[in-house]
Amino acid sequence: MTWKDFGFCEETTGDGSPTLRLLQTSVGDKPPESMHHSGGAAAETEQIYGPIGKLIFRQDFCRQGFSCRFLSVGLGLGYVEMMLARESLSAPNSTLELLLSFESQPDLRRLFLDWVFDRRIPQPCQMTYDRVSHYVLKETPLTMAQIKKQLQSWFSLKQWHLDGKLEAKLEEAREHWQARFSGIFYDAFSAKTNEGLWSEVFLVEFLETFADEFCLLSTYACLGNLKRALNKQNFKMIRRKGFCGKRNSTFAYRGIPQSPLDEV
Ligand SMILES: C[S@@+](CC[C@H](N)C(=O)[O-])C[C@H]1O[C@@H](n2cnc3c(N)ncnc32)[C@H](O)[C@@H]1O
Repeated sequence: MTWKDFGFCEETTGDGSPTLRLLQTSVGDKPPESMHHSGGAAAETEQIYGPIGKLIFRQDFCRQGFSCRFLSVGLGLGYVEMMLARESLSAPNSTLELLLSFESQPDLRRLFLDWVFDRRIPQPCQMTYDRVSHYVLKETPLTMAQIKKQLQSWFSLKQWHLDGKLEAKLEEAREHWQARFSGIFYDAFSAKTNEGLWSEVFLVEFLETFADEFCLLSTYACLGNLKRALNKQNFKMIRRKGFCGKRNSTFAYRGIPQSPLDEV
């Protein structure tokens, strides 16, 4: 079996790291979307999502009121999850309280989890995840085995949860889910592929449900709906340069007087 059997094709991006492209989308004649910028999947993840993990695992951040609770939309190839495992291993006094990863594709959830637990998966998929971990760990002395062990431990101790479609869980979460998150990685497919996840109403509801009073949020996007939703939820925003000449990305924060980004 290859990625094609799961509805994706693998591509190598500009920095050598792998990404997946959907083989088809459900949205009319729009071209299938890739999970990352062609300029570099690993580099894009570091630039857009890297700072949040680095900041929140720092003890002075926790003392300010932030918690080590992270929410990731969506899992994809797990760059964000591996990056968080790396950051926690690099900050030995930190403890993850909770990581909730949403991923609508059951195959991606299962394959990633099987890879984490060293269970057998098709060779091409195994090689892709191995390559992802190689790029995530590139500038550290950490090994793939350590990252897997960290994720295994988080999963076994129920500190890391993998869930399905975000929209489906929002209603349920409003009723039952108590936890709120200090670090949010909003890495959904774009509005072209997944319009619902980018409507202002949905984003306001999402933030109301999941965002902690002390919260940092990153996304590669910079859209009017997103800005209005963040504004309504009292986030301050800074518009950051997009990755690799792309349009702007967004970093938002609340609970602190000024952006912590220059401290990273
Ligand atoms: C841009 S990719 C995420 C890349 C990922 N952060 C990584 O580190 O590789 C978007 C992911 O969101 C998933 N997705 C799409 N719609 C979703 C939804 N409604 N709820 C949860 N996940 C969704 C897709 O299957 C895809 O894997």
